[in-house]
Amino acid sequence: MRAVDLIEKKKQGNAHTAEELRFLIDGFTKGEIPDYQMSAWAMAVCFNGMTAEETALLTQYMAESGDQVDLSGLKNTVDKHSTGGVGDKTTLIVAPLVASLGGTVAKMSGRGLGHTGGTVDKLESIPGYQTALSMEEFLNLSQKHGMVVAGQSGDLAPADKKLYALRDVTATVASVPLIASSIMSKKIAAGAKSIVLDVKCGSGAFMKTAEDAKILAEAMVEIGTACGRKMAALITNMDLPLGSAIGNALEVEEAIAVLQGQGPEDLKEVCIALAAQMLSLCRKWSLAQAEAKVKEALQSGAAYAKFEEWITAQSGDLNAFLQQRKVPCRSHRVVAKESGYITAMDAEQIGIAAMLLGAGRAKKEDAIDYAAGIRLLKKTGEQVQKGESIAELFTASAEDFEGAERCFLNALTVGAQPPKILPLILDRIGGADE
Ligand code: URA
Repeated sequence: MRAVDLIEKKKQGNAHTAEELRFLIDGFTKGEIPDYQMSAWAMAVCFNGMTAEETALLTQYMAESGDQVDLSGLKNTVDKHSTGGVGDKTTLIVAPLVASLGGTVAKMSGRGLGHTGGTVDKLESIPGYQTALSMEEFLNLSQKHGMVVAGQSGDLAPADKKLYALRDVTATVASVPLIASSIMSKKIAAGAKSIVLDVKCGSGAFMKTAEDAKILAEAMVEIGTACGRKMAALITNMDLPLGSAIGNALEVEEAIAVLQGQGPEDLKEVCIALAAQMLSLCRKWSLAQAEAKVKEALQSGAAYAKFEEWITAQSGDLNAFLQQRKVPCRSHRVVAKESGYITAMDAEQIGIAAMLLGAGRAKKEDAIDYAAGIRLLKKTGEQVQKGESIAELFTASAEDFEGAERCFLNALTVGAQPPKILPLILDRIGGADE
């Protein structure tokens, strides 16, 4: 078999056999197929697509290209993946919530880059919290506490890592089969039996429209099902940030509020929907039954107790975190320049404003300022008066607030009429009760 013939075949719009896909992925991972041939192939996929069968096989071979986490000794394993958003701290809430109700959430998460934050960075704002665990520690914690959230341990889906880096510089990221197989190869290798996807759409998301998000979600659900996993996806609105806090320590604080039965309604709604969907898959409860149990776990304090148990088990010092939060950080209030209704908040621009304050990384090597970020005092749909405070900016590292404030104000649109507010949960793929 020759790579050049497979590029030609995809260029002509034909489907690959399983052997051909195995040849491409194995050859590329071992360095036998050079980057220029793999990029030409990826470009042919961008133009001509892949069948559902090809996409599932590509995912499986990428998942098999490296380590695979063996969770078979654990019961009710369930994972959650978000396609990334601004202010998305759902993992911090949903993981202990699900674990408090008998699901096992053994989760590997990433760091943030650009306008979206990463769960690992948020957790590292808690003094002492250990994200670098050996596989043995990872499995022991999952067994003992029903949950663990760590950075990646082992070499999961190296074929995807190599291919994604190549796609990033050859304008071949935007292809549904390539995105879906890339995300799902890592999830399949991570080992959970049930997987719930939170596919975001809107200004702060990878997919800008609900239609595109649905196409991606359907492709991923189909792949997971073909690989023997129980799958569901929610399409959620990311036209504006989720909750009121953007920035690592601010988001941990907001997650704690939700786990204590408080916190912003939008964040609570998405977390309840995700947790109920995860429990419905892994515990075989109806969605209504799962939702009632989730609400009860938030009210009773069971979810917060699991959160404390989890953070302590990973050496985090919650008291030290709460003490640190009492020390004032340099802050600045942003005021409305005109009166009216906030009709839009560009989540991506707000994420960039938080990054300028030090909450995120423009480049992989950049350091994080854990206290930096934004607290929204007003959100889309709310009325503001000229001169009224609409947000608070925090930084311990940025020289001034000027750039971030300008970026934040550019993200807002103020109009005379209240806007139409879209529902937060726009659609559900799979996972509904039969
Ligand atoms: N995230 C991934 O992991 N892969 C893609 O291709 C796009 C987003």
